[in-house]
Amino acid sequence: MLPLVLAASLLAPVVAAAAAPRRVITRGDGIIRSPIRAIPDPASKLRVRQNEVEVENQRAGTRYAVEVQVGTPPQTLTLILDTGSPDTWINPSCDTANVPSDCRSFGQFDSAESSSFEATKDRDVLVYGIGNATVQYVYETLTIGSATIEKQQIGIALESHMIPLGILGMSPPLRGVNDYPYVLDTMVDQGLIQSRAFSVDLRGVDNPNGALIFGGIDTGKYIGDLAKLPMLDREDTPLGADRYYVTMTGVGLTLPDGTVTQSEEIAVPVFLDTGSTFTRLPTPIYQAFAASFASAQYDPESGYYFVDCEVTELEGASIDFYFGSKTIRVALNDFIWQVQGYCILGVLPDDEEPILGDTFLRAAYVVFDQDNRNIHIAQAANCGTNLVAIGSGEDAVPSSTGDCTELPTPTAAADSLDVTATRAPTNTFTGTARPTINQGPGPAASKGTGGGTAPQPTTTTTGRSGSQNAAGRGVELGFGAIVTFGVVNLLTLFL
Ligand SMILES: *[C@@H]1O[C@H](CO)[C@@H](O)[C@H](O)[C@H]1NC(C)=O
Repeated sequence: MLPLVLAASLLAPVVAAAAAPRRVITRGDGIIRSPIRAIPDPASKLRVRQNEVEVENQRAGTRYAVEVQVGTPPQTLTLILDTGSPDTWINPSCDTANVPSDCRSFGQFDSAESSSFEATKDRDVLVYGIGNATVQYVYETLTIGSATIEKQQIGIALESHMIPLGILGMSPPLRGVNDYPYVLDTMVDQGLIQSRAFSVDLRGVDNPNGALIFGGIDTGKYIGDLAKLPMLDREDTPLGADRYYVTMTGVGLTLPDGTVTQSEEIAVPVFLDTGSTFTRLPTPIYQAFAASFASAQYDPESGYYFVDCEVTELEGASIDFYFGSKTIRVALNDFIWQVQGYCILGVLPDDEEPILGDTFLRAAYVVFDQDNRNIHIAQAANCGTNLVAIGSGEDAVPSSTGDCTELPTPTAAADSLDVTATRAPTNTFTGTARPTINQGPGPAASKGTGGGTAPQPTTTTTGRSGSQNAAGRGVELGFGAIVTFGVVNLLTLFL
């Protein structure tokens, strides 16, 4: 049976590209909903207790997780929802997790208690931006929301480092072909959903009841239309890895009085990664954001920019991301981490594979359509629940308008944000203790994921800079011709 499933799955991306939808009989309504929970950062909590620091309104949801059931009878596990890697695996090694006690607070799967457990001899080494896992593959029954997937291939960690929870992998196969059928593929193959599409609604950590919906969208969770953005072809991505890449055409800020500052038109490939705590952008953009805060202090040790916590109270102020005619505004309150009395700008530099991580995704409602290779995006909101099914074929994702009320339209542009050149930080961090943020795993490395049967020695990546594609191609960030304007230190006006 396996060779057939594998063959079908290998063909799938090609078939999809030729716009020939799979014909499937779907059981039930084909919509599977599973809550997403923001998991607070245990390290910061511990530190807070030790140091007895008062931290109000702590914005510490560093990872977004979903509950799944594995085995027969079902055992409940919590997994990180990761659109930056394709493999699903469980049972991290807690002794070598970033925070062992955190890891141990979640349950582990006991294969001896499951009658549906089937081991294979295949092993693999999975390398992430932060951490790695050596897994043995097994077949198991996996239940997500109301969907029970039979004989899903998942990994069980033999050894893992720096990762406190297993991972539910939702990305496309990074090298363009499946090593085996991933969870999303199997859901379609078993008729649970009609096409390989799902929507993600990460909530702010003050209201951590987001949702992962397979085969459906919830029009009660966004404003206006869902903009359809084509996913970049694998060959056009910075390191040649197939990820949920779209083209970001501008960045900017909105001030509390409604005036807008905006960069010139740019064309920066960015991919959407729920497994990355921070947003990671090319250095000039990261520095331009920081330069917009008069209070920003650069910490060379961590790369974080610390800002005055008062900025988080600026109602109406946002960091803005443009995708053609669609703008996603991230409230400062959601973009800035409040940890151990410090406030950290939710962006880090990355000139290789720029990422829109959780600090961006909290403000966006996103539909990932692998079959048609589109990302649909809208400004997130919450005004009820109205589930609409995603069918199959070219227009599988309905173009339904969101039910939530428009945000006030900002007034005319104030100035331009210069994202053309790098600039030296003005102020250096003067604090004494640095807060530690336990970030999500980040994306799977472009190289070293998969290999199915043959575990391959993998270059160790510390941070994300080590990843390179097979062709060794450099990064083309594709900044077009950009007019340079003066730098505006926008939030100086307000602080
Ligand atoms: C996994 O991470 C650990 C700790 O950083 C490192 O010692 C080990 O070499 C890594 N293994 C692989 C296969 O990358």
